[in-house]
Amino acid sequence: MPLELIARPRRNRRTPAIRDMVRETELTPAHLVLPLFVHGGSDEPIDSMPGVNRWSTKGLVDEVGRAADLGVRAVVLFEVTPEELKTPTGDEAWNPDGLVPRAIEAIKATHPDTVVMTDVALDPYSSDGHDGIVSPDGTVLNDETVEVLCRQALMHADAGADIVAPSDMMDGRVGAIRETLDHHDHHGVGICAYTAKYASAFFGPFRGALDSAPRHGDKKTYQMDPANSREALRELELDTAEGADMVMVKPAGPYLDVVRRFADASVVPVAAYQVSGEYLMIKAAAASGWLDEQALISETLTGIRRAGADVILTYFATQAAKHL
Ligand code: PBG
Repeated sequence: MPLELIARPRRNRRTPAIRDMVRETELTPAHLVLPLFVHGGSDEPIDSMPGVNRWSTKGLVDEVGRAADLGVRAVVLFEVTPEELKTPTGDEAWNPDGLVPRAIEAIKATHPDTVVMTDVALDPYSSDGHDGIVSPDGTVLNDETVEVLCRQALMHADAGADIVAPSDMMDGRVGAIRETLDHHDHHGVGICAYTAKYASAFFGPFRGALDSAPRHGDKKTYQMDPANSREALRELELDTAEGADMVMVKPAGPYLDVVRRFADASVVPVAAYQVSGEYLMIKAAAASGWLDEQALISETLTGIRRAGADVILTYFATQAAKHL
């Protein structure tokens, strides 16, 4: 005996064409940003992130080309700094002859339409492994750090970056960077603020890739407590008032509620970063043979989009784009 149902939601799932027609969330390569690691040596795999490489400048440019061919037209750059160039004040961060500015120029020379984003923070350059300058008593200094971050952001803009992305979580850095950029006529260079960046255990493989783990202490005095989301709205208000063009939540997967709160409250586009630990978990799980890697990629990225992210930073960008 058939049930007397008026509403049968399964009708909208009956065929692929119907499902495609009613799908609410679209995932396209245009939404994806590919993080890339550049170093002074030749191309080599990263132990902590299977499938991800540290690139020479030449290798980097080729990878940007492969991504662009698949429709991924945005990248964010991270530099692996040799130990001997690391200092307490992270001065290599704003060296105009450093790896990042050269990489930006090389990309812009060959792929001018690719959006080049840069990471603004001191940890790859800091002998303390912190995002800011550490005082003798162990405090991570805010205002002194902001000054250096401004120099770093300006150097990236001078080299041709489209968007600078401060990932340091110092107070007031978005406003200070905006003022510095404008003062030097970089009115068109955008700021994608890491607005709600959490003190997360998911950054481990990234720190392995860069050898940038804190040499002492942790990042809890500047990165956010994973227990808080109202506080993320405070950061959102501040970064937006200071001129952020995009606001980011990081990591993505464990913080989808924060992504949704941002999507509802933000007047600027929302980005989310599927970080190295989320990447590694998928890789390791797929390697077990019990989970389908491509399906996991598509489901996690769709979930992040559904939660409200306009833009997703993911090490899977190229691989995802291949299947879209
Ligand atoms: C540092 C920075 C980190 C990441 C991006 N920028 C690590 C950290 O804060 O310790 C992590 C990215 C990832 O895990 O994929 N400013």
